Amino acid sequence: MAQRVEIFEVGPRDGLQNEARQIPTADKIALVDCLSLAGFARIECASFVSPKWVPQMADSGAVLEGINRAPGVSYAALTPNMTGLERAIAAKADEVAIFGSASEGFSKANINASIAESLERFRPVADAAKAVGLPVRGYVSCVVECPYDGVVAPGDVARVVAALRDMGCYEVSLGDTIGRGRPEAVDAMLAAVLQELPAAQLAGHFHDTGGRALENIEVSLARGLRVFDAAVGGLGGCPYAPGAAGNVATEAVHDRLVALGYDTGLDRAVLDKAAGMARAMRGQQEGRDG
Ligand code: HMG
Ligand code: MG
Repeated sequence: MAQRVEIFEVGPRDGLQNEARQIPTADKIALVDCLSLAGFARIECASFVSPKWVPQMADSGAVLEGINRAPGVSYAALTPNMTGLERAIAAKADEVAIFGSASEGFSKANINASIAESLERFRPVADAAKAVGLPVRGYVSCVVECPYDGVVAPGDVARVVAALRDMGCYEVSLGDTIGRGRPEAVDAMLAAVLQELPAAQLAGHFHDTGGRALENIEVSLARGLRVFDAAVGGLGGCPYAPGAAGNVATEAVHDRLVALGYDTGLDRAVLDKAAGMARAMRGQQEGRDG
């Protein structure tokens, strides 16, 4: 039997957070409801960040309230601080994520804190989430390159991964936030990170700015990773990472994995439908870079 590789769908969060136009809440709910029929185990569809920083995600509570929750699907939310966690609990998110950076420049631009300050801020969030039984995922951004600081050393990534592990994150997702990672750089980064956390607790999160996301996924597969974040229709970017294109498209990752002999458990026809909905949401921004 083909080996399972999981695609963690992040389009409704990482994708829609970056759209310049305000997407109606009902459209976001319709997208998540469609994705819920595709066979994902986890869908990130909310972000309880400051609405002053990311107004696109201000309706995250209404999205979680409005969706039809499919049995067995975990609906995930970003929580940068205790306020975010309280909002996520009130909206009945099934799991939460704390998100740090391996580079100081991006940490400051994205969450207004140094790496050390951000880790101090995350600890009580992780503790409180675990105390109410919410699984906590960790993200590390800029694992190969930072839009502000340039090339990032693998050891810097490994240190943040270790800190998130020590806080009890069940999995740490490694973000090539601006999609400039070359396979050799991704491989060197993974070699360092694997000293701290086994492949079974790591995920790859590749943006596709440089068109190398699928190659980087193959490098990660060779290193033993079996979870990849992707956004249906290639939605996405990050408002605090200038030039970051969308996440690698879920349907492209699915097709590559199947071609490599893996099983994703996803229904391709439903993915196509969701990708069409996602592309329609991009409207006039279709094809833009950032
Ligand atoms: P700050 O301005 O330093 O914090 O922002 P603050 O505590 O001074 O708060 C500012 C205002 O926001 C206050 O309101 C707070 O109450 C409010 P005021 O008193 O001015 O009226 N506030 C909140 N409101 C609702 N929910 C909250 C919340 N927190 C504060 N949770 C902060 C610090 C972390 C809040 C801010 O920088 C922030 O929200 N940043 C998030 C930026 C973001 O969402 N970026 C995109 C997600 S990360 C990403 O995409 C990368 C990833 O995909 C992986 C990859 O690709 O690498 C995960
Ligand atoms: Mg991202």
